[in-house]
Amino acid sequence: MTKLPQIKARPRAAQIFAVIIAGIIATSTVLTYGIIFVLLKLKIGTITAVVTSTTYMGIFTTILGIGIAAYTSAKMLSPILKINDAAKKVARGDFSVRLEEKSIAKEIEEIAKSFNIMVKELSNTETLRTDFVSNVSHEFKTPLSAIEGYATLLQDERLSKDEQALYVSRILENTSRLSKLTHSILSLSQLENQEIVLQQETFMLDEQIRRVLLGYEPLWEEKKLNIDLALKVTPYYGSKSLLAQVWSNLIDNAIKFSRPGGTLSISCGMIEGKVVARIRDTGIGMSEEVRQRAFDKFYQGERSHSVQGSGLGLALVRRIVSLCGGTIELMSKEGKGTEITVSLSVAQPPS
Ligand SMILES: Nc1ncnc2c1ncn2[C@@H]1O[C@H](COP(=O)(O)OP(=O)(O)O)[C@@H](O)[C@H]1O
Ligand SMILES: [Mg+2]
Repeated sequence: MTKLPQIKARPRAAQIFAVIIAGIIATSTVLTYGIIFVLLKLKIGTITAVVTSTTYMGIFTTILGIGIAAYTSAKMLSPILKINDAAKKVARGDFSVRLEEKSIAKEIEEIAKSFNIMVKELSNTETLRTDFVSNVSHEFKTPLSAIEGYATLLQDERLSKDEQALYVSRILENTSRLSKLTHSILSLSQLENQEIVLQQETFMLDEQIRRVLLGYEPLWEEKKLNIDLALKVTPYYGSKSLLAQVWSNLIDNAIKFSRPGGTLSISCGMIEGKVVARIRDTGIGMSEEVRQRAFDKFYQGERSHSVQGSGLGLALVRRIVSLCGGTIELMSKEGKGTEITVSLSVAQPPS
């Protein structure tokens, strides 16, 4: 038979306090009677007077001491008990608990502060996780119900050829949306779990941006946008495929949120030892709230709900830029336009 581990009963803090207090009382009693003994030896005062007065004093100080000790131990233990209760609540999944940070003891104050920070971080992660799951489910549900709806309509044999073609094209549009969405979610989750940039090579950044822009020609042609290019020859060593996604998402947004006849300005080159690319549009711009949240996963500004997209573009862009050791800056004015600047450090290819 396996032996159960012996659990030693450990004293509670209050018991330790009690033992310390008893020790203090015992020592002071011994000392008091020691003093009486010395006084009597030196023949100062009568025996009764000395014994009585010191005994009364002893009793008084003992009661006072016990009172003070009980009060201070209760004061010192109460924040620890509160931390314990709060930690139990967090363990049960309640992230709304916060501890009172003010305390007479500096250490307790620090513990309370760290505890509150920890709970806040935990609750953020939890919110992000649940938000992510509900966002993904929601984004999938919309195209899936559309596909289901059009497929049901197609079952009607009396449909004209035009109607059939329309429903089939709607189904294809939604399938493509689902496929793009899946692709973005997968890329983002892969990039979030990745710490280094693989497959780096030297390529011409200006050339890459020009190519990406050309790929969007039907869209900017349709909106009759003026294109203003200032692409200087810019060799860059890094991940070609990742950076292509950056330009593609930024140019896609710039066109999507532009008004017909607007201007799209794109520049790239070296500025103060950094590779800098800038994409500017004269479109609808962003409100303060949109600007604050534009890089959040699945976030879409209000006006863009009717427009295609999933709100993952800028989240992907930011992750890629940070993986490449660069920075991204966003400037936008509602009704005036948006300017996004990507700055990348120059890395030397391994020789
Ligand atoms: N160039 C821009 N002009 C105005 N608003 C923009 C621009 N780029 C991004 N935004 C705002 O930021 C939001 C998030 O952008 P993004 O992550 O690319 O998502 P999506 O393009 O799928 O809506 C957009 O929904 C939009 O509100
Ligand atoms: Mg986008």
